[in-house]
Amino acid sequence: MKQYTIAVLPGDGIGPEVIGQARRILDAVAARYDLRFDTREYPVGAAAVRVAGDPLPQATRDAVRQADAVLLGAVGDPALDGEPRDRRPETGLLALRALLGVYANLRPVALYPALLHTSPLKPERLTGVDLLIVRELTGGLYYGEPRGRVDGTAFNTLRYSAAEVERVARVGFTAAQARRRRLLSVDKANVLETSQLWRETVTRLAAEFPDVTLEHCYVDTAAMRLVSAPSEIDVLVTENMFGDILSDEAAVLAGSLGMLPSASLGSGPGVFEPVHGSAPNLAGRDVANPIGAIATVALLLRHGLGLAEPAAAVERAIATALERGARTADIAGPGETVMGTAELGGYIAELVRERAPQGIPV
Ligand code: IPM
Ligand code: MN
Repeated sequence: MKQYTIAVLPGDGIGPEVIGQARRILDAVAARYDLRFDTREYPVGAAAVRVAGDPLPQATRDAVRQADAVLLGAVGDPALDGEPRDRRPETGLLALRALLGVYANLRPVALYPALLHTSPLKPERLTGVDLLIVRELTGGLYYGEPRGRVDGTAFNTLRYSAAEVERVARVGFTAAQARRRRLLSVDKANVLETSQLWRETVTRLAAEFPDVTLEHCYVDTAAMRLVSAPSEIDVLVTENMFGDILSDEAAVLAGSLGMLPSASLGSGPGVFEPVHGSAPNLAGRDVANPIGAIATVALLLRHGLGLAEPAAAVERAIATALERGARTADIAGPGETVMGTAELGGYIAELVRERAPQGIPV
């Protein structure tokens, strides 16, 4: 029996609830494929500030470095908004990304036919949407020094080296090769030197990928294209801050931010987390959509552990549940039965086990 170590970091807000459902999926995968997952939990974010005074305590650092993969819920708690930077939950997440060097953040946006009506976009615009955002994750404004506040002024530094651009662009080109072979590189090269370097570097690398069609586009245009013609985008690669903004915009296509998974990859263990964040207003009410976290388990299996077939089985189970009308409140149409977080998680877990779930809301 193969055994894998997954460091589980539930974090804040709805993080623990959706991670609870992700765990049920891992249990189901273990049973069906005769695998073993060691899934010990460690604190991160506001939860870690409360128990250890540090948003990424040493015990968590040690555990993630030794794990095969990291499964993260969400971090963020408005109660700590006024705290100094070293006690803010987001600082723990950024430190985790830096510690593991996970420079390439993959955010796939696939649409489920059953949910076309939940997106604010017209269904005809959504047909054929299947895109992947590759966001640079360990550089740019998030990490640039110097940064700070002096008197009435505040400043941040936007800095990229050609090597940082090249390694994430390579991930974009390689992903495109396995898909529709189109790469859209997003920058602001009409204004920013970092973007000029970005564009030159990506253009140079394109010579290694003659089978991929490369197109450059400014970030403002990209924001427009994501909603006006999203089906024409295959892989979109961009720097950290642009990628943060565009990936939330792209989530609207899927009907709910609660649906989307992400994988952050470097040369060591990857970090796998749903895109939705801690959503404090939904926490503790059994209303959060667990599908983002469950789809994240699929990415963890595929990219983190190299288990392609179990990953596909989890994705099929999500699609089947949606086809049968299983919904949380955020994706329910008029007249559709609404399930709680745990009910939908359990339903999908039963499908992964190839058992007939109870209470099919047909
Ligand atoms: C995300 C989040 C984080 C980010 C925050 C919580 C620091 O918005 O993963 O997209 O900006 O990277
Ligand atoms: Mn974000």
